[in-house]
Amino acid sequence: MKNFYIETFGCQMNAHDSEKVIGTLIGEGYNQVKTPEEAELVFYNTCSIRDKAEQKVFHRLDQFKREGKGKKFIVLGCVAQQEGERVFEKAPHVSMVCGSASYNQLPQMLVQLEAGNKRITGLSLDTEDTFETPLTRRENPHRAYLTIIEGCDKSCAYCVVPFTRGPERSRTSASVLAESLELSRAGYTEIQLLGQNVNSYRDPSPSGWDFATLLDRVGCVPGIRRVRFTTSHPRDFVKPIIDAIDENPNLCNHVHLPVQSGSTRILNAMQRLYTRDEYMRRIEWMKNARRPIAITSDIIVGFPGETEADFEETLGLLREVAFDAIFGFKYSRRPNTPALALAGQIPEEEKTRRLTIVQELQREIQTRRNAAYLDTVEECLVEGFNIATGQWIGRTSQHKTLNFLRVASDNIADDDILGRYVDVRVTRAGANSLVGECVN
Ligand code: 5AD
Ligand code: SF4
Repeated sequence: MKNFYIETFGCQMNAHDSEKVIGTLIGEGYNQVKTPEEAELVFYNTCSIRDKAEQKVFHRLDQFKREGKGKKFIVLGCVAQQEGERVFEKAPHVSMVCGSASYNQLPQMLVQLEAGNKRITGLSLDTEDTFETPLTRRENPHRAYLTIIEGCDKSCAYCVVPFTRGPERSRTSASVLAESLELSRAGYTEIQLLGQNVNSYRDPSPSGWDFATLLDRVGCVPGIRRVRFTTSHPRDFVKPIIDAIDENPNLCNHVHLPVQSGSTRILNAMQRLYTRDEYMRRIEWMKNARRPIAITSDIIVGFPGETEADFEETLGLLREVAFDAIFGFKYSRRPNTPALALAGQIPEEEKTRRLTIVQELQREIQTRRNAAYLDTVEECLVEGFNIATGQWIGRTSQHKTLNFLRVASDNIADDDILGRYVDVRVTRAGANSLVGECVN
């Protein structure tokens, strides 16, 4: 039996793709090991969203330029798709590259690899399929990722995803619901629906369900207590999604809705297909919902042509919305994307300055928002134990980390508490997490 090692970079879609690839490899008779040193096959599942992410895989490969004898190296994912055969030029010890739209071909490609072939490629984006396999090996025993749609039909001016993951393909609602039921039977209580653009989901079968309908139905699967979804695009974020959250308590109180910029002029240059006002209308829907929906977002600073005034508008939007959390990024120039050729590229130091300001402001906002949870009781899924602090790690419906201490009277054995839902009273609040005491 041959040993393989796999390392994953990037988003949850990539993490879940790796779970499917691992299942496929084990199904083909391979054995997973924890270090590249022990492996005959070394897989990197890569991300190319920003330049830094892309560089990581080449650093990893460089480490094995000399000592890699007897091993085969395989590059999967977004860098494979984006760079294609150029990977073989940059790292001649790589034997195979395969993008996510070609993972269905992996078993045949492995046969070629074992036959000693070099420079094997799986780069076609011309697929109607999503990559699904009953062999998927999920890493987390409580929360399961579940792909509902692959690819992206938008064309944001900065983004590689349409090139690396191909056109949108939705799974049938019947297969999504069947897998949800299986996951529940296997003991999972939380499902995270995945897609580059989950809310443009459209059931390809005659029922033609939209995303809000599918979301509600997954939330009705017996045994499933929490359903999350990521990522949503504001353009396709319609009111029925919020109505579904309002009506179905199994749908988590959390929406990740990347805004990218607070300036309509920059949103337009980014080809985001919405204005600041249109984005704010969606925020208003959520703030007016019956349930307290936590809202998180992504921000890009230093997009070409972003003036000080545009940047101020982003800061203004952050103050106005008061997000529960954000991921802030410096604009990174990406191959093939329309923004690559735009005039008015912003110097690196200026992007760093703007990002620091964004992060400082957001820290103040989060400190204030989290303080509002003091003394409230939140239901947490117990996800782990932190040996250093002696605290259990819980996750609230709003996707906040709530670390807590057990009380002697809760009568649950330590081994049993992982994966359970417990009520925790918040006793301390920081910018990035809450601390509390279990009350049941
Ligand atoms: N530069 C910087 N950030 C980017 N993102 C996507 N492409 C780029 C880029 N070229 C960010 C967006 C997106 C998140 C996943 O990554 O904010 O929402
Ligand atoms: Fe990275 Fe985007 Fe690919 Fe995910 S889809 S791995 S974020 S480039």
